[in-house]
Amino acid sequence: MFHAQILTLFPEFFASPLACSIPKRAIGAGLAVVDCIQIRDFATDKHRSVDDSPYGGGPGMLMKPEPVVAAIREARSRRPESRVVMLTPSGVSFTQEKALEYAAASDITLLCGRYEGFDERICDYVDEQLSLGDYVLSGGEPAALSVLDAVIRLLPGVLGSADSAVLDSFSEEGILDWPHYTRPEEFEGKRVPDVLLSGNHAEIEKWRKEESLRRSAKRS
Ligand code: ADE
Repeated sequence: MFHAQILTLFPEFFASPLACSIPKRAIGAGLAVVDCIQIRDFATDKHRSVDDSPYGGGPGMLMKPEPVVAAIREARSRRPESRVVMLTPSGVSFTQEKALEYAAASDITLLCGRYEGFDERICDYVDEQLSLGDYVLSGGEPAALSVLDAVIRLLPGVLGSADSAVLDSFSEEGILDWPHYTRPEEFEGKRVPDVLLSGNHAEIEKWRKEESLRRSAKRS
Protein backbone atom coordinates (compact mmCIF):
# COMPACT_ATOMS: atom_id res chain seq x y z
CA MET A 1 0.00 0.00 0.00
CA PHE A 2 1.17 3.53 -0.85
CA HIS A 3 1.42 5.86 2.13
CA ALA A 4 1.61 9.67 1.89
CA GLN A 5 1.96 12.20 4.66
CA ILE A 6 1.34 15.88 3.97
CA LEU A 7 2.78 18.54 6.23
CA THR A 8 0.59 21.60 5.75
CA LEU A 9 -1.15 24.56 7.37
CA PHE A 10 -4.25 23.74 5.27
CA PRO A 11 -5.23 20.07 5.57
CA GLU A 12 -8.73 20.97 4.33
CA PHE A 13 -7.22 21.86 0.95
CA PHE A 14 -6.86 18.14 0.15
CA ALA A 15 -10.26 16.81 1.22
CA SER A 16 -12.34 17.52 -1.86
CA PRO A 17 -9.84 16.58 -4.64
CA LEU A 18 -8.96 13.31 -2.91
CA ALA A 19 -12.67 12.51 -2.61
CA CYS A 20 -13.12 12.54 -6.41
CA SER A 21 -12.55 10.07 -9.21
CA ILE A 22 -9.34 8.06 -9.28
CA PRO A 23 -7.80 9.18 -5.94
CA LYS A 24 -11.12 8.47 -4.24
CA ARG A 25 -11.24 4.98 -5.73
CA ALA A 26 -7.62 4.24 -4.80
CA ILE A 27 -8.09 5.39 -1.22
CA GLY A 28 -11.44 3.60 -0.94
CA ALA A 29 -9.88 0.35 -2.18
CA GLY A 30 -7.09 0.61 0.42
CA LEU A 31 -4.38 1.05 -2.25
CA ALA A 32 -3.34 4.46 -0.90
CA VAL A 33 -3.46 6.26 2.43
CA VAL A 34 -3.03 10.04 2.76
CA ASP A 35 -2.50 11.52 6.22
CA CYS A 36 -2.20 15.23 6.91
CA ILE A 37 -0.07 16.64 9.70
CA GLN A 38 -0.99 20.18 10.75
CA ILE A 39 2.25 22.19 11.05
CA ARG A 40 0.58 24.67 13.40
CA ASP A 41 0.17 21.88 15.98
CA PHE A 42 3.95 22.09 16.43
CA ALA A 43 4.09 25.84 17.15
CA THR A 44 5.32 26.47 20.66
CA ASP A 45 4.60 30.15 21.40
CA LYS A 46 1.31 31.34 22.79
CA HIS A 47 0.11 32.73 19.44
CA ARG A 48 0.93 29.41 17.76
CA SER A 49 2.85 31.35 15.12
CA VAL A 50 4.38 29.54 12.17
CA ASP A 51 5.78 32.51 10.23
CA ASP A 52 7.99 35.53 10.82
CA SER A 53 9.53 38.44 8.91
CA PRO A 54 12.82 38.00 7.01
CA TYR A 55 16.16 39.13 8.45
CA GLY A 56 17.58 41.85 6.25
CA GLY A 57 14.12 43.20 5.49
CA GLY A 58 11.93 42.78 2.45
CA PRO A 59 8.33 41.88 1.79
CA GLY A 60 6.37 38.92 3.10
CA MET A 61 6.79 36.38 5.82
CA LEU A 62 8.72 33.12 6.02
CA MET A 63 7.89 29.76 7.54
CA LYS A 64 9.74 29.56 10.88
CA PRO A 65 12.15 26.67 11.39
CA GLU A 66 10.98 25.45 14.83
CA PRO A 67 7.41 24.28 14.05
CA VAL A 68 8.31 23.02 10.56
CA VAL A 69 11.29 20.98 11.78
CA ALA A 70 9.23 19.59 14.69
CA ALA A 71 6.53 18.55 12.18
CA ILE A 72 9.16 16.89 9.95
CA ARG A 73 10.48 14.99 12.98
CA GLU A 74 6.98 13.78 13.82
CA ALA A 75 6.51 12.63 10.20
CA ARG A 76 9.86 10.79 10.27
CA SER A 77 9.02 9.09 13.55
CA ARG A 78 5.65 7.92 12.16
CA ARG A 79 7.12 6.68 8.86
CA PRO A 80 10.89 6.20 9.20
CA GLU A 81 11.26 4.93 5.61
CA SER A 82 9.44 7.90 4.10
CA ARG A 83 11.29 10.34 1.86
CA VAL A 84 10.66 13.95 2.90
CA VAL A 85 10.07 16.20 -0.11
CA MET A 86 9.80 19.98 0.20
CA LEU A 87 7.61 21.68 -2.41
CA THR A 88 9.31 24.88 -3.53
CA PRO A 89 9.73 26.75 -6.82
CA SER A 90 13.51 26.44 -6.37
CA GLY A 91 13.38 22.62 -6.35
CA VAL A 92 14.05 20.24 -9.24
CA SER A 93 11.19 19.88 -11.71
CA PHE A 94 8.53 17.26 -11.14
CA THR A 95 8.36 14.80 -14.05
CA GLN A 96 6.62 11.56 -14.94
CA GLU A 97 9.91 9.80 -14.14
CA LYS A 98 9.74 11.22 -10.58
CA ALA A 99 6.12 10.11 -10.29
CA LEU A 100 7.15 6.56 -11.21
CA GLU A 101 10.00 6.71 -8.69
CA TYR A 102 7.68 7.87 -5.88
CA ALA A 103 5.07 5.24 -6.77
CA ALA A 104 7.76 2.56 -6.53
CA ALA A 105 9.06 3.91 -3.20
CA SER A 106 5.48 3.61 -1.84
CA ASP A 107 6.07 6.07 1.00
CA ILE A 108 6.37 9.84 0.72
CA THR A 109 6.12 12.91 2.95
CA LEU A 110 5.28 16.19 1.20
CA LEU A 111 6.13 19.45 2.96
CA CYS A 112 4.01 22.43 1.89
CA GLY A 113 4.98 26.02 2.62
CA ARG A 114 2.98 29.24 2.55
CA TYR A 115 3.97 32.90 2.61
CA GLU A 116 7.20 33.87 0.83
CA GLY A 117 8.76 30.48 1.49
CA PHE A 118 10.82 28.61 4.07
CA ASP A 119 13.65 29.75 6.33
CA GLU A 120 16.65 28.38 4.40
CA ARG A 121 17.81 26.22 7.34
CA ILE A 122 14.73 24.00 6.96
CA CYS A 123 16.28 22.62 3.73
CA ASP A 124 18.80 20.69 5.85
CA TYR A 125 15.98 18.58 7.28
CA VAL A 126 14.43 17.36 4.01
CA ASP A 127 15.63 14.76 1.51
CA GLU A 128 14.75 16.63 -1.66
CA GLN A 129 13.26 19.84 -3.01
CA LEU A 130 10.69 19.61 -5.77
CA SER A 131 9.06 22.24 -7.99
CA LEU A 132 5.91 21.85 -10.03
CA GLY A 133 7.24 24.28 -12.63
CA ASP A 134 8.67 27.73 -13.21
CA TYR A 135 5.89 29.75 -11.65
CA VAL A 136 4.99 30.76 -8.11
CA LEU A 137 1.96 29.27 -6.40
CA SER A 138 0.50 30.76 -3.24
CA GLY A 139 1.59 27.65 -1.38
CA GLY A 140 2.98 24.14 -1.79
CA GLU A 141 -0.48 22.55 -1.47
CA PRO A 142 -1.52 22.64 -5.16
CA ALA A 143 1.92 21.24 -6.02
CA ALA A 144 1.64 18.44 -3.44
CA LEU A 145 -1.81 17.60 -4.73
CA SER A 146 -0.53 17.32 -8.30
CA VAL A 147 2.30 15.05 -7.16
CA LEU A 148 -0.14 12.86 -5.21
CA ASP A 149 -2.54 12.61 -8.14
CA ALA A 150 0.21 11.72 -10.62
CA VAL A 151 1.59 9.06 -8.25
CA ILE A 152 -1.70 7.51 -7.12
CA ARG A 153 -2.87 6.78 -10.67
CA LEU A 154 0.35 4.81 -11.26
CA LEU A 155 -0.16 2.47 -8.30
CA PRO A 156 -0.84 -1.14 -9.29
CA GLY A 157 -4.58 -1.83 -9.40
CA VAL A 158 -5.67 1.82 -9.45
CA LEU A 159 -6.43 2.28 -13.16
CA GLY A 160 -9.04 0.05 -14.74
CA SER A 161 -7.18 -1.40 -17.69
CA ALA A 162 -3.76 -2.93 -17.08
CA ASP A 163 -2.02 -0.82 -19.71
CA SER A 164 -3.75 2.55 -19.54
CA ALA A 165 -0.95 4.13 -17.47
CA VAL A 166 1.73 2.46 -19.59
CA LEU A 167 0.33 4.17 -22.70
CA ASP A 168 0.26 7.65 -21.12
CA SER A 169 2.16 10.58 -22.51
CA PHE A 170 5.74 10.61 -21.14
CA SER A 171 5.70 6.98 -20.01
CA GLU A 172 7.96 6.03 -22.88
CA GLU A 173 11.20 8.05 -22.89
CA GLY A 174 9.53 11.45 -22.78
CA ILE A 175 7.31 10.78 -25.79
CA LEU A 176 3.89 12.44 -25.84
CA ASP A 177 0.64 10.59 -26.36
CA TRP A 178 -0.99 10.53 -29.83
CA PRO A 179 -4.20 12.47 -30.63
CA HIS A 180 -7.45 10.77 -29.63
CA TYR A 181 -10.91 10.98 -31.21
CA THR A 182 -14.36 9.69 -30.30
CA ARG A 183 -17.82 10.06 -31.91
CA PRO A 184 -19.07 11.91 -33.92
CA GLU A 185 -17.06 11.24 -37.10
CA GLU A 186 -17.51 14.88 -38.07
CA PHE A 187 -17.81 17.82 -35.64
CA GLU A 188 -18.27 21.35 -37.00
CA GLY A 189 -16.56 20.36 -40.23
CA LYS A 190 -13.62 18.66 -38.51
CA ARG A 191 -13.32 15.00 -39.47
CA VAL A 192 -11.76 12.13 -37.56
CA PRO A 193 -8.64 11.06 -39.55
CA ASP A 194 -9.65 8.38 -42.10
CA VAL A 195 -7.00 5.95 -40.89
CA LEU A 196 -8.77 5.60 -37.52
CA LEU A 197 -11.97 4.55 -39.28
CA SER A 198 -10.18 2.14 -41.62
CA GLY A 199 -10.06 -0.86 -39.31
CA ASN A 200 -6.46 -1.43 -40.46
CA HIS A 201 -4.69 -1.93 -37.13
CA ALA A 202 -1.18 -1.93 -38.52
CA GLU A 203 -1.83 1.40 -40.27
CA ILE A 204 -3.46 2.82 -37.11
CA GLU A 205 -0.48 1.85 -34.99
CA LYS A 206 1.91 3.37 -37.54
CA TRP A 207 -0.13 6.62 -37.65
CA ARG A 208 -0.22 6.85 -33.83
CA LYS A 209 3.55 6.40 -33.56
CA GLU A 210 4.17 9.07 -36.19
CA GLU A 211 1.75 11.50 -34.56
CA SER A 212 3.37 10.96 -31.12
CA LEU A 213 6.79 11.71 -32.52
CA ARG A 214 5.51 14.73 -34.47
CA ARG A 215 3.90 16.21 -31.33
CA SER A 216 6.96 15.52 -29.20
CA ALA A 217 9.29 17.12 -31.74
CA LYS A 218 6.98 20.13 -32.09
CA ARG A 219 6.96 20.80 -28.36
CA SER A 220 10.69 20.44 -27.71
N1 ADE B 1 5.34 26.63 -3.91
C1 ADE B 1 5.11 27.79 -4.55
N2 ADE B 1 5.31 27.66 -5.86
C2 ADE B 1 5.66 26.37 -6.09
C3 ADE B 1 5.99 25.61 -7.24
N3 ADE B 1 6.03 26.14 -8.46
N4 ADE B 1 6.31 24.31 -7.07
C4 ADE B 1 6.30 23.76 -5.85
N5 ADE B 1 5.99 24.42 -4.72
C5 ADE B 1 5.67 25.71 -4.84
